[in-house]
Amino acid sequence: AFARPAVFLQGAAKIEQLPEPDLPEVAFAGRSNVGKSSLINALTGQKGLARASNEPGRTREVNFFLVDERIRLVDLPGYGWAKASKVETRKFQNLGRDYLRGRVNLKRVYLLIDARHGVKAPDIEALDALDLAAVSYQIVLTKADKIGPQERQRVAEATLKAVSKRPAAFPRLVLTSSEKGFGIPELRAEVLLACET
Ligand code: GTP
Ligand code: MG
Repeated sequence: AFARPAVFLQGAAKIEQLPEPDLPEVAFAGRSNVGKSSLINALTGQKGLARASNEPGRTREVNFFLVDERIRLVDLPGYGWAKASKVETRKFQNLGRDYLRGRVNLKRVYLLIDARHGVKAPDIEALDALDLAAVSYQIVLTKADKIGPQERQRVAEATLKAVSKRPAAFPRLVLTSSEKGFGIPELRAEVLLACET
C-alpha cells in the first residue's frame, strides 16, 4: 500500500464545504456501483475506509481521504443510477460535477468503467464534460475478475479505442480488480506519478 495509513478527512455535501485546494488530489468518478469506493479501499489496503455497498447510490457526498500525508483521494457520488429519486440524484451529481469543474489542485480523474459492460451512454456524457472542462482523466476498467482473459483484452482494446480521439484522455488504461487485487499496484504508481507534476 502507500507508505502510511490513509485517513478519512471529511465529506462535503455542498460545494462550500470542500477543503482548501492546498494538496494534490485525484478523484474517482463513474457510474453508481462501478466500484469507486472499493477501489479506494484496495489502493490504500484498508477495507473499511470508504463505504462500499452492493446498493447503488451508496456514496452521496464528495469524500476526501488523505494518503501519505500529502495526497488526497476523492471518492465521488456515482452517476447514471436510474432508480434514485430525481431531485436527490441531481443534487449529488451536480455536486460531483461542480467539484470536477473548478478544482485547481485536481491532478487527474480516474474514470471507472465496469469491464463487463464497457463505455455506456452516461459514461459518454461524463467523458464529454471532462473533455470540455479540460480535466485530465484516465480510464480504469473495474471488476476484471468477473470476466476471462480474452474478454479483458477485448474490452481493454475497445475502451481505449473509444477514448483515443478525446483531448483530455490519458493514453493508457488500467485493468483492475479490487476483489482479487490485480492492477492495484500499477494504479497506485500512476496516482503517485500524477501527483508529482
Ligand atoms: P456508488 O457509491 O453507489 O456510486 O458505488 P461505487 O462505485 O462506490 O461502488 P462500490 O465500491 O460501493 O462497489 C459496488 C459493489 O461492487 C460492491 O458490492 C462491491 O463489493 C463490488 N465490487 C467493487 N469492486 C469489485 C471488484 O473488483 N470485483 C468484484 N467482483 N466486485 C467488486
Ligand atoms: Mg461509492
